[in-house]
Amino acid sequence: MVQSASTVLRMRITDTSDLWWKTAVVYCLDVETYLDWNGDGTGDFEGLSHRIDYLAELGITCLWLMPFYPTPNRDDGYDISDYYGVDPRLGHLGDFVEVVRTARDRGIRVIVDLVVNHTSDQHPWFKASRSSRDSAYRDWYVWRDEPPEHPEATAFPGEETSTWQFDEKTGQYYLHNFYHFQPDLNVTNPLVRDEVAKVMGFWLQLGVTGFRVDAVPFFLDTEGVEPGHGQLKNPLEYLKSLHAFLERRSGEAIMLGEVNLARSKQLSYFGGEDADGLTMQFDFIGMQNLFLSLARQDARPLAAALAKRPVLPQANQWANFVRNHDELTLDKLTPKQRDEVFAAFAPDADEQIYGRGIIRRLGPMLLGDPRRIRMVYSLLFSMPGTPVLFYGQEIGMGEDLARGDREAVRTPMQWTHDANGGFSDAPASKLAAPMVSGGYSPEHVNVASQRHDQDSLLHFIRRLVERYRASAEIGWGDFTLLDQPNNSVLAHTMSGDEGRMLAVHNFSAEPAVVTVALYAPDTRFVDLLRDGSVTTDTRGRLDLSLEGYGYRWLRQVGPNEKRLF
Ligand code: GLC
Repeated sequence: MVQSASTVLRMRITDTSDLWWKTAVVYCLDVETYLDWNGDGTGDFEGLSHRIDYLAELGITCLWLMPFYPTPNRDDGYDISDYYGVDPRLGHLGDFVEVVRTARDRGIRVIVDLVVNHTSDQHPWFKASRSSRDSAYRDWYVWRDEPPEHPEATAFPGEETSTWQFDEKTGQYYLHNFYHFQPDLNVTNPLVRDEVAKVMGFWLQLGVTGFRVDAVPFFLDTEGVEPGHGQLKNPLEYLKSLHAFLERRSGEAIMLGEVNLARSKQLSYFGGEDADGLTMQFDFIGMQNLFLSLARQDARPLAAALAKRPVLPQANQWANFVRNHDELTLDKLTPKQRDEVFAAFAPDADEQIYGRGIIRRLGPMLLGDPRRIRMVYSLLFSMPGTPVLFYGQEIGMGEDLARGDREAVRTPMQWTHDANGGFSDAPASKLAAPMVSGGYSPEHVNVASQRHDQDSLLHFIRRLVERYRASAEIGWGDFTLLDQPNNSVLAHTMSGDEGRMLAVHNFSAEPAVVTVALYAPDTRFVDLLRDGSVTTDTRGRLDLSLEGYGYRWLRQVGPNEKRLF
């Protein structure tokens, strides 16, 4: 049931910990590029276990591990050849469990990538499937004599031409929504569905608290499956059965779905009003409009995108992000809007990909302007939802354009100013990925120096994490956009039983004064990101001044206020 604020029981502190994801801080990393402990040039689980304290210091509460399973590694591990193991380059299952245990000890839950739309073509299931039309595994994948008349477009234009690949040996085509070496599993086959549940059960048993579910709409899509090879009446029902399975196995596990679809389709992926589908979804539309707002120095596109979010049942949540490990996709903008964002942040062809995305990180896109970068992160942590960081964002890492495509943002973590940025002792030529060079190289951007600098981005992000975690109304409260006259300013409140917060963000380089008039006279608001407070005038108005790219978080001080500021 959707509950309005008035019908929700007064929130108890235990509610926030039971539905922990509503106020989590998620951090995504790839073990391969985080810290190399054995000196072979590739990051490993042992290295990661030595950085759990760093993550705890940052204050994150949920670690999302990108794929670490055995893989030919042709799509950064999203091409899996064994769902029940750890790629030997990264360690073994024992090392994995050490990481999960250590993280848990520091109050950090671990979620892992569940990539079950497809396997690698090197997976034994696919090798068996393609060996003969009579193989017991034939129906684990989607085979046809001819591609459908109107096949879906490929996810990687320029790299793939079709989503159907002809296989000489058995003379049929198989479906691959992504690369041709990633054949799609056939979820209409009950054996495949059983195996997906088994994979989930396996990792839950090893201590994970859920999954980032890869490519959900593709995974559920059964188009292309020939009649007679089984159909799912309603693929979303399958999602519900996975939810039920998860609930039976764990009281706290989540599914955080990669669903880049229109607003009108999102609620059904959450399971509708019953909230028995995905627990969380990334807000791709919010993210894309955030960049349009930045490009225009106008808050209205973001405001409109947030206003159009479907209202979610209480158990569900949005995952906010400004950048992930893929291209910064702009596919939900109009061509004209997309061109505006390209012109502002990625004017050169080598900064763009697939005609729809950008392969740069935030810092370089914003020309390293600390005011603007901080304003964006302030927004990330104060928009309704749960913030997700991609490793290296906390120190403002840049990208490696020379590497090209999505790999550009997957360079090794920069720990120190030493050789290889302290990532590895191996010769540079042996690294899993080259270090960033130039102005964003480890010499200029690294954890060690920022840890000692109270004014660094790292300290700023830590402060945001701390304030966010102490402000349950951001994750739980009702969201309201405030009317005010500056188009460049986003002003919003989050309010619920936990309290009421007001946040203002200025997308323009020009200072602004924001007048909001929603409150009773003499109501006090405390600044949460700096010293100070403001009180409404006799007409209940507040005048808030903002510098160029300025931001403020304010909490209304209620009667008998007991919270710490
Ligand atoms: C998702 C991942 C991406 C991967 C693709 C195929 O979109 O985020 O990195 O290439 O799925 O698995």
